[in-house]
Amino acid sequence: MKNLIISKQVKSTERMSLQHLIRPKTIAVIGASREETKIGHMVLKNIIDGGFPKENVFPVNPNVDNILGLKCYPSVKDIPVDVDLAVIVVPARIVPKVMKECAEKKVKAVAVISSGFKEVGNVEGEREIVRIAKEAGIKLLGPNIVGIADTPMKINASFMPYLPERGKIAFISQSGALAIGLVTWTKLKEIGLSDVVSIGNKADVNEIDLIEFFSKDPHTKAITLYMEGIEDGRKFMEVAKRVTKVKPIVMLKAGKAERTAAAIKSHTGSLAGSDIAYDIAFKQCGVIRAESFPTLFDYGLALASLPDPKGENVVILTNGGGAGVMATDACEQYGLKLMDIPSDLAGKLKKWMPEFGSTLNPVDLTGMAADRDYYGSLQTLLADERVHAIIILYCHTAITDPLRIAEALVKCKREGKYVDKPMVAAFIGGRECDTAIKHLTRYGIPAFENPERAVAALAAKYRYWRYKKRPSGAFVKVDGNKEKAKVIIERALREGRALTPSEAAEVAHLYDIPVVKKRIARSKEDALKIAEEIGYPVVLEVESPDIVHKVDVGAIRLNIQSREELEKAYDEVLSNVKKNAPKARIEGVVVRSFVKQGVEVAVGMHRDELFGPMIMFGSGGTLIELYKDVAFRIAPLTDIDIDEMMKETKVIKVLEGFRDKPKDIEAVKKVLASVNQLSLDFDEIKDIDINPLFVYEKGCIAFDVKILLRS
Ligand code: COA
Repeated sequence: MKNLIISKQVKSTERMSLQHLIRPKTIAVIGASREETKIGHMVLKNIIDGGFPKENVFPVNPNVDNILGLKCYPSVKDIPVDVDLAVIVVPARIVPKVMKECAEKKVKAVAVISSGFKEVGNVEGEREIVRIAKEAGIKLLGPNIVGIADTPMKINASFMPYLPERGKIAFISQSGALAIGLVTWTKLKEIGLSDVVSIGNKADVNEIDLIEFFSKDPHTKAITLYMEGIEDGRKFMEVAKRVTKVKPIVMLKAGKAERTAAAIKSHTGSLAGSDIAYDIAFKQCGVIRAESFPTLFDYGLALASLPDPKGENVVILTNGGGAGVMATDACEQYGLKLMDIPSDLAGKLKKWMPEFGSTLNPVDLTGMAADRDYYGSLQTLLADERVHAIIILYCHTAITDPLRIAEALVKCKREGKYVDKPMVAAFIGGRECDTAIKHLTRYGIPAFENPERAVAALAAKYRYWRYKKRPSGAFVKVDGNKEKAKVIIERALREGRALTPSEAAEVAHLYDIPVVKKRIARSKEDALKIAEEIGYPVVLEVESPDIVHKVDVGAIRLNIQSREELEKAYDEVLSNVKKNAPKARIEGVVVRSFVKQGVEVAVGMHRDELFGPMIMFGSGGTLIELYKDVAFRIAPLTDIDIDEMMKETKVIKVLEGFRDKPKDIEAVKKVLASVNQLSLDFDEIKDIDINPLFVYEKGCIAFDVKILLRS
């Protein structure tokens, strides 16, 4: 790997301070209405009812002197103290005017609840308020939002009906109405939140700024987001990669169907599709993707409250065989490893179950299990260093009280005798179980209504933990001949076309990718000259747009060893075509070096509009689209990315020597590094498709290279 240079990444993005927006000390409500049913009235009332000090709240309305017992000011400029946050609740047409007043008052941040901007085509109005904000150094949230809620400071500067429960999960939502729905749902489930921020049109402050803010916020232990789209994929990845090293991010990304509809055309592209780009980007920067809104908060809860495991050994503790089986299935589905219970541990567990209980994993205490049995067996599992995480299941029986079981579990956890281990629970039953679930969750054992949700939540914790401890790797760099490649690419761009096969092969060659040499000959003399240049043995192939299966009509001759053989073969292939396919148009005869077939893999690149170059590796050959045995990563790649993406495919087993000798995996890695480099050096390249790449015990060779350029 002479050209494979490893370089360390250095990245830094300045944190934007949103303190005045999220944790203001003084709040003005511009558009505080007298009418109870209006949003401006509700926002003011919510701020007061939430518990924020009344003396620091300032209603603004030129048409009234007093609202809800507070003095009302005709303009924000008349407020006698500094204003950290102004919540704007006047119609869109008045917003620029009040924004100018905010600028004069030197307000630090505004949250514009008003709708009627970009979302309805009023792009100019939105630009205008952003311009005013930028010039005055004001952070602008919105417009078109429901507002902000912050539980540490008891601020409900929104028209959400109430403050959420206090907790450690920050929730950022692109949808306002959904934010209200979800927050009221979390209240019902007693899931605590630190903050709720609706970002609406995100004209200024966006999800990336908020992720940065919450990553440093001591009140927040996990960041959850509902998003329909990200505008700056590269920046998002850069920030998320940095943040997930210290704090988990969980994202519910909606809008899959739309993006799928905008699927990309090329080979690699059609396999990629933009929603897959999101999946890959999230995976690469440690963002946990939630599939639905309950899982968004399930994962958030697990990630905010569970300690890191010390290893992969998971034990299921249950009082019902069925629940245990469901959890076992879910563990397999979500990639959790169930521990084989060692005999000494089994002996200790037996004490807490009847004769007919089971000390296999799931550990089945049976339906007779009472609180003392749950307590004792949990204590036994917590005391054993070989056990790293515990899933506790309970099915409501007539002889046990779910709350007593929950209390016993919490007592055991809180005694603090043992190392804290991640524990989740599922209590299956009616209202009594609901109370027990809330009790467990409140005391740091996230609990759910069914085993699958408990397992999925624990698995989210594992996914994040594995990501965090995985080495980040070093970026791969290849010293290609950029200058020469640039000349070829620029010529094709000027002529508005893709690279020809020989140009594509040349560019690949300039970046150290071994390629089958080939050129088209228009005469026998031409063919002889080309063969001399590329070296024997060669293959002759009649080039015709009308012949699909060249072997069938005798249009191809393999393994030509000498000048004499070539002279003969040249006449033969042409006369075969004349005889067997008389109507076929003949454009020439391709002369290429003769290579033996190896394991067929494919390497490619598709430039995603949002995230940039997506590098692909997988099973190659004509059936690539049928097998879909491919994996993607977004460039720039590290050596770890390359390893991991290769391991995601089935063809890696073949390369490792499945029923045969191992193949040269290092040579394939080098090709992936070269494609990565090409995609970074040339923004103009839209797609690269190397298929098949023949891999041998020693080395590999690209049989066919296609390079498409951006129009
Ligand atoms: N400064 C301060 N207050 C002013 C003002 C000014 N320059 N000019 C007028 N006001 C007052 C009005 O007098 C009124 O108070 P009043 O009811 O006591 O008379 C108050 O501001 C509100 O103005 P009004 O014209 O009645 O507007 P509204 O309450 O009907 O609607 C919005 C205002 C912002 C709620 C509405 O335009 C809107 O955008 N609604 C959608 C909000 C939304 O759904 N957001 C996104 C969620 S996803």
